[in-house]
Amino acid sequence: MKVAVVGATGMVGEVMLKVLEERNFPFTELMLVASERSVGKEIKFKNKTYKVIGLADAVANKPDVALFSAGGDTSLEWAPKFAEAGTTVIDNSSAWRMDTTKKLIVPEINADQLTKADKIIANPNCSTIQLVMTLAPLHKKYGIKRIIVSTYQSITGTGLKAVKQLENELAGVKGEMAYPYPIHKNAIPHCDVFEENGYTKEEMKLVRETQKILDDRSIAVTATAVRIPTEGGHSESVNIEFENDFDVTDIRKLLSQTPGVVVQDNTDVNTYPMPIYANGKDDVFVGRIRRDGSQPNSLNLWIVSDNLRKGAATNTIQIAEYLVAHNLI
Ligand SMILES: NC(=O)c1ccc[n+]([C@@H]2O[C@H](COP(=O)([O-])OP(=O)(O)OC[C@H]3O[C@@H](n4cnc5c(N)ncnc54)[C@H](OP(=O)(O)O)[C@@H]3O)[C@@H](O)[C@H]2O)c1
Repeated sequence: MKVAVVGATGMVGEVMLKVLEERNFPFTELMLVASERSVGKEIKFKNKTYKVIGLADAVANKPDVALFSAGGDTSLEWAPKFAEAGTTVIDNSSAWRMDTTKKLIVPEINADQLTKADKIIANPNCSTIQLVMTLAPLHKKYGIKRIIVSTYQSITGTGLKAVKQLENELAGVKGEMAYPYPIHKNAIPHCDVFEENGYTKEEMKLVRETQKILDDRSIAVTATAVRIPTEGGHSESVNIEFENDFDVTDIRKLLSQTPGVVVQDNTDVNTYPMPIYANGKDDVFVGRIRRDGSQPNSLNLWIVSDNLRKGAATNTIQIAEYLVAHNLI
């Protein structure tokens, strides 16, 4: 098993290496790949030092699987070249997610769609993964009509440049800006670029990807995505209207029995999910579970998950593990 990590020098790439090591992902050869800027740079992994290589060298080495987190443009150009060389690409960018010929996978929900023929597999957006992990069992049982989601997203979701921006602001140093405004002491209602409809691309990812993963275009989704100066995970306030009525106790029970979901919900002792708890963990944490009394069959909840782990690296590696376990690569 030859594994390439494309974008190995980035925020997701770094966590990808950590998760590969923690889960003891089986490989005989590891290629660490990044832009020409980083070629030759040394990275330590499992007590061995690896030199970063460029994309062309990695394709020539014909890896069995390539875990991509190097931005959409790199994926659009290079994922097909890897696929042509026989590599299975699992891509973290938004490049392929809505391509009708590509699968958009959260292993707990729809990995059974995967076949040997899938050479480019899309990993969903971080804020979508934690949302659908929570929605999938609820949709199955009660039928979701409409979702209103507001996100409070970590700066780590933007990448290294954003983390550097906050560090500079905290140190009072002028530097390169990842956002159009300061992020320290701020909340910016603008994640990714604006689309023609007035929503951001991040907000539309929540709409389109949720419908694709839950395989139901009839679910109405509306979203507002906000960047806040936190690390450790994205948070989401979610209002759900169901087709059928529910009992809040049953919802809590159902979610606590869902693999990958942890219910943190005891307001008597101030227990609810927060990025400081989710940081570095693979689970999706759900709390503040309560009926919305303003209309029938409606529920409010609060979801937090580490965007670099389940929102990116862990989900990608779980897909790779599924492919290996089912002999699909
Ligand atoms: N951060 C998250 O929570 C998150 C979650 C889900 C998905 N993603 C997606 O994952 C990707 C990476 O995000 P990130 O946060 O890790 O960003 P990042 O910290 O900015 O890292 C970007 C990585 O991509 C590499 N790269 C950039 N341009 C390249 C090129 N032309 N050829 C080869 N490699 C290139 C960089 O290499 P150099 O160091 O050489 O520049 C670096 O390794 C993005 O597509 C992002 O949308 C991120």
